[in-house]
Amino acid sequence: MKTHTLLMPLDMHLHLRDGVMLETVAPLSAYSFSGGIVMPNLVPPVETLEDVRAYKERIMATIPNDYFEPYMTLFYKNYDKKFLASVSNDIMAIKLYPAGITTNSEGGVSSFNIEEMRETLEAMSILGIPLCVHGESDGFVMDREAEFMSVYELLAKNFPDLKIIMEHITTKEAVEMLDKYKNLYATITVHHLIITLDDVVGGMMMPHNFCKPIAKRPEDKEALLSVALNAHPKVMFGSDSAPHPQDKKESAGCAAGVFSAPIALQLLCDVFEKHNKLENLQTFVSDNAQSIYKICPEFKEIILEKRDFIVPNIYGTVVPMYAGKTINWAIQSVE
Ligand code: NCD
Ligand code: ZN
Repeated sequence: MKTHTLLMPLDMHLHLRDGVMLETVAPLSAYSFSGGIVMPNLVPPVETLEDVRAYKERIMATIPNDYFEPYMTLFYKNYDKKFLASVSNDIMAIKLYPAGITTNSEGGVSSFNIEEMRETLEAMSILGIPLCVHGESDGFVMDREAEFMSVYELLAKNFPDLKIIMEHITTKEAVEMLDKYKNLYATITVHHLIITLDDVVGGMMMPHNFCKPIAKRPEDKEALLSVALNAHPKVMFGSDSAPHPQDKKESAGCAAGVFSAPIALQLLCDVFEKHNKLENLQTFVSDNAQSIYKICPEFKEIILEKRDFIVPNIYGTVVPMYAGKTINWAIQSVE
């Protein structure tokens, strides 16, 4: 049987939620990943040192063997220097959302006024706190990411020592930005390597493939594949696994988010194998993140095997991507 081994996989963009949902989903990520960047878009968002510490404790309480490192984040506001210095040891990054652009982002940034942001972004540069950005404008949905490139350029030029992560990129425009500024990096999800807009609304409407940013055109997917499959040193895997209860997805007014955490590594093996690039998966799914974020996760070895695996129909109240479908890889063992 064909197998593939991954060491210390990392999920650099992950929604774990809270309460009963956290109890359902955190163990699934903790099973196959060594760690993950945990998004702060709770209701209310994670904005204080107490919030960060308490949320981390709630996460750890759901993980039976402490085998997973939740890398914590704060929800971006214009924080002052003193506060950032006091919190820097407890967080891995700060996540910036344009106001209202996606789930639970109402308290985000409503205008990119560099002077208003300067104290925060300079302090983050000095303290070495990366800025993770949800890069979408408020324009036409298919153009939102491309339109946001000017904001990335503004940030990258004004704060050359700030590490800026373009989160869950979906377009060729974002791929092109990677080599333009030394301080720009990116995460890529597994679903954006597989689906296009056709898989969301091209036939019957598929709510479980609906997320922000929306999946784009075939040529965008190709651009994402070109950097992911070759493990471009500035790209990392980030699932953006974003669970919502079934009734919030299968409804008039479907919430945005694809739940992929329990099948992410299996799907990545499939994509990389199909393109004869399995040898680069380790770099994409762990090594690049270790160098970019300067982290050294505890040892964990995942062996995947090539065999049919039927994706469960539901985890708790959450329907995963490919529910009930057969995928080509399965997890054989975790050590
Ligand atoms: C995310 C969520 O549900 O929190 N949704 C999504 O479609 N990706 C938020 C986000 O990352 O945009
Ligand atoms: Zn997200």
